[in-house]
Formats: sequence, C-alpha cells, structure tokens
Amino acid sequence: MTGAARGIGAAIARRLATDGMAVAVVDLDEKQAAGTVQAIIADGGRAIAVGADVTDEDAAMAAVERTADELGPVGVLINNAGIIRDNLIFRMSVADWDAVQNVHLRGAFLMTRAAQAQMTQARWGRIVNLSSTSALGNRGQANYAAAKAGLQGFTKTLALELGKFQITANAIAPGFIETDMTHATADRLGLDFGDWVEAAVRDIPVGRIGQPADIAAVASFLCSEEAGFVSGQVIYVAGGPKA
Ligand SMILES: NC(=O)c1ccc[n+]([C@@H]2O[C@H](COP(=O)([O-])OP(=O)(O)OC[C@H]3O[C@@H](n4cnc5c(N)ncnc54)[C@H](O)[C@@H]3O)[C@@H](O)[C@H]2O)c1
Repeated sequence: MTGAARGIGAAIARRLATDGMAVAVVDLDEKQAAGTVQAIIADGGRAIAVGADVTDEDAAMAAVERTADELGPVGVLINNAGIIRDNLIFRMSVADWDAVQNVHLRGAFLMTRAAQAQMTQARWGRIVNLSSTSALGNRGQANYAAAKAGLQGFTKTLALELGKFQITANAIAPGFIETDMTHATADRLGLDFGDWVEAAVRDIPVGRIGQPADIAAVASFLCSEEAGFVSGQVIYVAGGPKA
C-alpha cells in the first residue's frame, strides 16, 4: 500500500486492516508512515511501516521483499503514492513533468513488477491503481492528467496479462477528495479551502465533496474475494457521473 502515510492511502490502509489484512504502510520515509501503523495497531490490526521512494527501482523491490519477509507473500497491491506539480503548459518545467510521471507511472510500474511475481506464484492477487477524474483533462494539470490517464491503460493491460493467474487489476478515479493534496491546490490557486469547496459542490450531484473513506470503501470491495470477476475497470468515485 503505497503513499499510505496520510490522506487516501492512510484511509485505504486502515480499511484493509479492518478487513483482516496485514498491511505494509509504504511511504517516502518510515517516520511518516508510523502514524498510520499506530492507528492500525490501536484498532487491533497488523501493520508495518516501510520507508521507500517508489520511483527508485531498488527501493521498490526491497519494499516488496521486506513486506513478504515480515508479513507473508504480497497478495494485494495498492498503487496510491502521488504528487502534484500543477502549472499551465507554457509554464510547466521539464522537472515538474518528469517528477509527476515518475511517481505515478514509474512508481506503479516498479511496485507492480515486484509484487506480481509473488501474486502469480500464489495464483491470486488484487491490484488497485489510483487514477483521477483529472485523467479526463484538467486545466493546470497536463502532467498529472497524462499520468492518471496512463495509469488507466496500465491497469487494463495488467488485467489482460495477469487474469489467468486470478489476479485482478482495477483503477479508482476519485473526484474531489479532502486531503493535504487538495488543500495544497487551494493554496496554489490562492483560494480559501471552504470557499473552493462551496463552489465545487455546486457541480457535484450528491452535493458534497468526498472523504478518503469514500475511496477506501471501493478499494475494500475491489480487494475482496467476491470482486474476482471485476478486472480492468476504472471506477469513478466522484459523487456523480462526470468530473
Ligand atoms: N485528493 C484528491 O482529491 C485526489 C483525487 C484524485 C486522485 N487522487 C490520487 O489519490 C492518491 C492519494 O492522494 P492524496 O490526496 O491522499 O495525496 P497526499 O498528498 O495527501 O498523500 C500522498 C502520499 O504519497 C506519498 N508519496 C509521494 N511521493 C512518493 C514516493 N515517491 N514514494 C512513496 N510515497 C510517496 C506522500 O508522502 C504522501 O504520504 C494520489 O495518487 C492522488 O493523485 C487524489
């Protein structure tokens, strides 16, 4: 479970632990991940903190190996680690383009390549990738939109290649979810978070923004035994049919 120190990743980690899974809380450094681990343990679950930069090939491999050593073979992988480096295209630097592709696409690739080896051996697995409604296009996010659309193609290809091992791969595409990431976006736009939410909610059919638990509930289903016939799908979780 990558990027699980906070936000959506922390909520998914806690939910999967409640579902009975032992969870490796992978994030940039172990200290950051410790809070989520403590919360899981306090709830009676099993978890370890694993410090890893998912863009680093050796670190990604080591994270999967350590998880297997300490918790048992990896059956479920959630590629959730993410960053934003928003800017309009004419102002976007190559560094900001590369950083976003690296965390979302290279990170998901490296973690999946490492984890699928264990899943294919066990002939069972669940992979969930975090896409976004931004995959459909979002002003100021050419880098992020490309990465999140890329993850959808990645997901569908994993479903095709790994299905014969009873491994499913699906993507969740959240809409507006309240996390540090969306608070940072409000800051960048120079907006008060409350005012921004009020304006956003007018276009969200269910009349509210999402919370990390809304995403965790869908992840929980996709990782369950009974979701074994759902694969290669992108599930938009955005309070309505459109971004
Ligand atoms: N918040 C939203 O509205 C929203 C909407 C759509 C999609 N998403 C996606 O959901 C995921 C989680 O978003 P969030 O809002 O919880 O973000 P967040 O910024 O609160 O948390 C992201 C986590 O990823 C970790 N991370 C970043 N780079 C990493 C790396 N190289 N290696 C390991 N960990 C790394 C961070 O340390 C952080 O803990 C992201 O993929 C994001 O793009 C979020």
